[in-house]
Amino acid sequence: MSQEIVLHFKTKEGDTRTVDAVVGDSVMETAIKNDIDEVVAECGGSLICSTCHVYLDDATMAIVPEADDAELDMLEGVASERKPNSRLSCQVIVSEGMAEHTIYTPDDQ
Ligand code: FES
Repeated sequence: MSQEIVLHFKTKEGDTRTVDAVVGDSVMETAIKNDIDEVVAECGGSLICSTCHVYLDDATMAIVPEADDAELDMLEGVASERKPNSRLSCQVIVSEGMAEHTIYTPDDQ
């Protein structure tokens, strides 16, 4: 049976949605499964659209692997401000350590 953790998604309006996330899924997959409309993910995780942009909280930044070169290239094309904690959510895999962490969605995708 797959393991689940609780993740929070916070929108630019300040709304927080709390969802169950399957460990091993990407954050993008978690958002899509839970109807988080602020994550668009046009390319379905193929790393060619940049419409799955999110901001990670400090606790998540501290434990996820750094973005690889391909992700860094695609982050240059995000619609909203790119910040140090910007990531493409299709490249961030949900792990046990992310339980109760918060994912922030940007103004635009
Ligand atoms: S879903 Fe397209 S780059 Fe992440």
